[in-house]
Amino acid sequence: MKKILITGGAGFIGSHVVRRFVTQYPTYEIYNLDALTYAGNLENISDIEHLPNYTFIKGDITDVDFINALFQQHQFEGVVHLAAESHVDRSITDPLSFVKTNVFGTMNLLNAAKTIWKDHLEGKRFYHISTDEVYGSLGATGLFTETTPYDPNSPYSASKASSDHFVRAYGETYGLPYVITNCSNNYGPNHFPEKLIPLFIHNIINHKPLPVYGDGKYTRDWLYVIDHAIAIDLVFHQGKNHETYNIGGFNEWQNIDLVQLLCQKMDEKLGRSAGTSVQLISYVKDRPGHDLRYAIDASKIQNELGWEPSVTFEEGLEQTIDWYLSNEKWLQHVTSGEYQQYYQKQYS
Ligand code: NAD
Ligand code: DAU
Repeated sequence: MKKILITGGAGFIGSHVVRRFVTQYPTYEIYNLDALTYAGNLENISDIEHLPNYTFIKGDITDVDFINALFQQHQFEGVVHLAAESHVDRSITDPLSFVKTNVFGTMNLLNAAKTIWKDHLEGKRFYHISTDEVYGSLGATGLFTETTPYDPNSPYSASKASSDHFVRAYGETYGLPYVITNCSNNYGPNHFPEKLIPLFIHNIINHKPLPVYGDGKYTRDWLYVIDHAIAIDLVFHQGKNHETYNIGGFNEWQNIDLVQLLCQKMDEKLGRSAGTSVQLISYVKDRPGHDLRYAIDASKIQNELGWEPSVTFEEGLEQTIDWYLSNEKWLQHVTSGEYQQYYQKQYS
C-alpha cells in the first residue's frame, strides 16, 4: 500500500498521470491536490473519480498551513508534483504569479515532505515534473542532454528552473530523495486551448484566424501526453534518486509545418475541401524572448529504463483531433468565461 500525492491532477498532463496511477495501481491510495485554477478542470478525470483508491482535494500548494496539515494528516510516501502555472505567454504578462506557484509552491511542498520524512527517508520519493525550456534555446543543431547548463529565457522557464534548483538543493542539503524529469512539448486530449495545437484546432473548427508568431520557423519536439504519463510512471518506480531524466518525442517540427499538417488533417476530418484551413493562417507579432528551438536527447531514459514513445506523431495527432471533435462540450466549457478575456487581451 502506498499513499501518493499528485499535484495538478486536474490539469492537462496531471489528469493523464492521475488516471495512469489510479488504474495501474489499485492498491495505492492516490490523492489529487489541485487549486482548480483556469487550467484545472475536474471533467478531465470524471471517468475515474468513483474509484475507491482515488481522492480529490481542492487546495493551493502555496498555502503553508494547509500543506503542512495535509502532509501531517496523510503521511504521504510519494509526491508527484505537476501543479504549476504553465503557459509562457501568461508568464510574460503576469510573471509574479509564476514565481508564487512554481517557485514558492514547490518550496512549500519540499518543506512539508522534508518535515514528515525527516528520519524515515527509506522508500520515500519527491518527483518533480519539469520542462526542457529550462535549458534555453538551441540553434539549428544539437540536443538538450541532462548536463546541458540551465539558460532559461522566459519568466515561466526561469520559475521552473528555479524550482528545479530548489529540489536539487533539498536533495543535497537535507538528503531528500528526489527525481526530476524535463520533458518536451506535450499534446493530446484535455490540452487547454491556449497552447498551439488545441488553440489552432479550436480556431479551425470555428473558422477563426490561426495566429502564427513571427515567421513560424520556431521548432518544438512534440510528445503524446499518454506517453509522458507512462514515462512518469516508469521514472517514479524505477528512476534513481537524485537523478534527472530528459523525456522527448524524437519528433521535431517547425511550427509552420505542424500547422499546415494540422490544417490538412482538420479539413479531412471536417469534410472541408483541401486548402480551406491553411487560408486561416495569419502571421502575428512574435512572442518576446521566443526560444528558437527545443530538441531533447532522451537516450538516458531510453537506455536505462527502456522507455520510448508508443505512438507516431501522425497517430497521436489523429487521436487528438478525434478527441476534440467528439468532446465539443468540454471545449465549450473551457472556452467560456475567463478564456474570452484572455483571448481578447493576448490576440487583439
Ligand atoms: P496545466 O496548466 O494544464 O495544469 C496545471 C494544473 O495545476 C491545473 O490543474 C491547475 O489548477 C493546477 N494548479 C495551478 N496552480 C496551483 C496551485 N497554486 N495549487 C494547486 N494546484 C495548482 O499544466 P500542464 O501543461 O498539465 O503541465 C503540468 C506540469 O508539467 C507543469 O509543471 C509544467 O511545467 C510541466 N510540463 C508541461 C509540458 C507541456 O507541454 N504542457 C511539458 C513539460 C513539462
Ligand atoms: O517545451 C515544454 C513546454 O511546452 C512546457 O514546459 C510549457 O508548459 C508548454 O506550454 C510548452 O511551451 P511552448 O511555449 O513551447 O508551447 P506553446 O503551445 O505556447 O507554443 C508552441 C510554439 O507555438 C511556440 O514556438 C510558440 C508558437 N505559438 C504559440 C501560440 C499559443 C504560436 O505561433 N501562436 C500561438 O498562438
